[in-house]
Amino acid sequence: MYPIQATYPATRFRRNRRTDALRRLTQENVLTVNDLIWPVFIKDGTGDETPIASMPGVARQTIDGLVRRAAEAAELGIPAVCLFPYTDPAQRSEECDEAWNPENLTNRAIRAIKAEVPDMTVMTDVALDPYTSHGQDGLMKDGMILNDETVEALVRMAVTQAEAGADVLGPSDMMDGRIGRMRSALEAAGFHSTAIMSYSAKYASVFYGPFRDAVGAAGRLKGDKKTYQMNAGNSDEALRLVARDLTEGADSVMIKPGMPYLDICRRVKDEFGVPTFAYQVSGEYAMLQGAMQAGWLDPVAGMLESLLGFKRAGCDGILTYFALDVARHLKR
Ligand code: PBG
Repeated sequence: MYPIQATYPATRFRRNRRTDALRRLTQENVLTVNDLIWPVFIKDGTGDETPIASMPGVARQTIDGLVRRAAEAAELGIPAVCLFPYTDPAQRSEECDEAWNPENLTNRAIRAIKAEVPDMTVMTDVALDPYTSHGQDGLMKDGMILNDETVEALVRMAVTQAEAGADVLGPSDMMDGRIGRMRSALEAAGFHSTAIMSYSAKYASVFYGPFRDAVGAAGRLKGDKKTYQMNAGNSDEALRLVARDLTEGADSVMIKPGMPYLDICRRVKDEFGVPTFAYQVSGEYAMLQGAMQAGWLDPVAGMLESLLGFKRAGCDGILTYFALDVARHLKR
């Protein structure tokens, strides 16, 4: 592969590393503010934010707080936010009808951001777990997660999000056939420009633990999500899923979690060359924050190095809870 043989002393790699200027000049990958998508947890009401114990530095925001933070994010140059609702437990149900209520928390938040910070790209999560009484991502019957019925519910949910003004829909449910059904419904309803970023390769992962605290699903969820999320041992399957979702109309794809799955990011980018994103999920964030707070890891350098890894693995962007901190740092 490399015709040039690097032999010492003609070749000394340290020459290019000698000064900061030379290192910058020969750097292959860079992290910029344009690579960031900021996931935000939202809650009803007004007033104080609610800190999430397992995610230091992250809190559930009310819509008015969210709009202020979104304005700050836009000011810093962050291109997108991604909304995750903490649904009032009274609004969770077996049928999940709150998911497609045009006035639900997410849809109100989308409208509020679009009204006040119109240039901010608003991305949503399309999955039923914030709305089900059992905390699973789909409709359940006799202990089984129903595929096709869930897809119909997700399509209704997606259309209300598009109506509310969402720019990018993020189906994170891992049901089969959802991208195609969603795309046709969006086209039929006139939402030709609403994009879909498919969580194509989403693994059944222990790293989602703190997120489930944040959205109030942790106490409800019994068992796991292994009948729909991917087996952590699989790699070829991720390529088949990405191929399938692209065929069905996905505009971009996502790999999730991030850091333990950078091999998948690289394979997807090499194979398809499409806009490829990864999600540095709650457990990765908690793990890094835990070490940072204990004084075992430099916070700024740790955050930047963890994210640069995604760029090196071929990602075009990263969903990260560090987004605001990174953007502030990059601006300095
Ligand atoms: C739910 C969803 C999850 C995350 C994003 N959307 C959790 C899950 O699948 O159980 C996880 C994000 C994170 O851990 O930061 N559809």
